[in-house]
Amino acid sequence: MKKHIAVLAGDGIGPEITDAAIAVMNKIGEKYGHEFEFEHLLMGVCAIEKTGEPLPQYTIDRCLASDSVLLGAVGGAVGDKRIESLPGHLRPEAGLLKIRSALGLYSNLRPAKLFPALAGACPLRKDIAEKGIDLVVVRELIGGIYFGERGRGVGEGGEFAYDTEKYSVEEVTRIAKIAFELARKRRHHVTSIDKANVLESSRLWREVVHNVAKDYPDVELTDMLVDNTAMQLVKNPAQFDVVLTSNIFGDILSDEAAMITGSIGMLASSSLGATKRGLYEPIHGSAPDIAGKDLANPIATILSAAMMLRDSFDMIKEAEDVENAVNEVLNAGYRTADIMSEGKTQVKGSEMTKLILERI
Ligand code: IPM
Ligand code: MG
Repeated sequence: MKKHIAVLAGDGIGPEITDAAIAVMNKIGEKYGHEFEFEHLLMGVCAIEKTGEPLPQYTIDRCLASDSVLLGAVGGAVGDKRIESLPGHLRPEAGLLKIRSALGLYSNLRPAKLFPALAGACPLRKDIAEKGIDLVVVRELIGGIYFGERGRGVGEGGEFAYDTEKYSVEEVTRIAKIAFELARKRRHHVTSIDKANVLESSRLWREVVHNVAKDYPDVELTDMLVDNTAMQLVKNPAQFDVVLTSNIFGDILSDEAAMITGSIGMLASSSLGATKRGLYEPIHGSAPDIAGKDLANPIATILSAAMMLRDSFDMIKEAEDVENAVNEVLNAGYRTADIMSEGKTQVKGSEMTKLILERI
């Protein structure tokens, strides 16, 4: 099979980790007779520096013409200016939001799993961690307060600012269906997150999710308020299978879910819409402090490439090969600095990639 992949390496450690994932995909291509063609495009700080905007139209057009998109990470300083000083629409994050929206990627899957080999890195109490963590946050990605009307004005209390949380029945329905379908392939349980005791948008969210649930009598549905969820994730994460959330709640809870596994450098994500063209990225950021030092853990991006193989290209065997290679390397005791623990062998990012390549 021949596939054209748009690569948005981005900033900070983005280029090193996407290079690692590309090497892995090329190795898979050699082994299975696929041809993967990679086209590098600008997004983020690197795009602002070269074109003045975080996401040039050319990048969007080429992503739309590709079979799938691999993303590293965006963010950092722009020249000698800190990004906080840039207007909102020129921040590198604006590029990320725009590409998600332009590609119609409403469904963001963020699996958070405690890798048995890394149990020592889990920050939770041992008796809690022992029950296991294996959940997927299904986050709505192109609606809600991220894309609602926003602005500033001047009123009686002086200057004010506002952002709007707004969800339609259609938007909630399509993401809820994704969560229920996914639950059917897992442990048949959806926990839907809202703040229905306060927010009208959450009350609609809850109604719609219950309507969708009628078509999935084999899947158990639990409603949970977002504040309680933040607590339950620390208290008893084993209770969660599929966690269905709005855009903003998913942003917050997915960081928490990732952190409790102790391996933020390990977690992959996919964003998909109505077609097979998805965007795959590690859930961690651009980590400018360690960029270029060969310290970054490439595994999250390599596992994101595995998700692309499976979910965009239906290459199941190929995806498993990558995941098995990663597991073998971890079981053999190799660790990058972020997941290092006593008695293990510490390796550089590039060595980690090499070890994984050897096992494919
Ligand atoms: C994420 C990130 C982004 C988000 C930022 C960088 C815009 O935090 O993917 O979780 O808030 O969606
Ligand atoms: Mg986030």
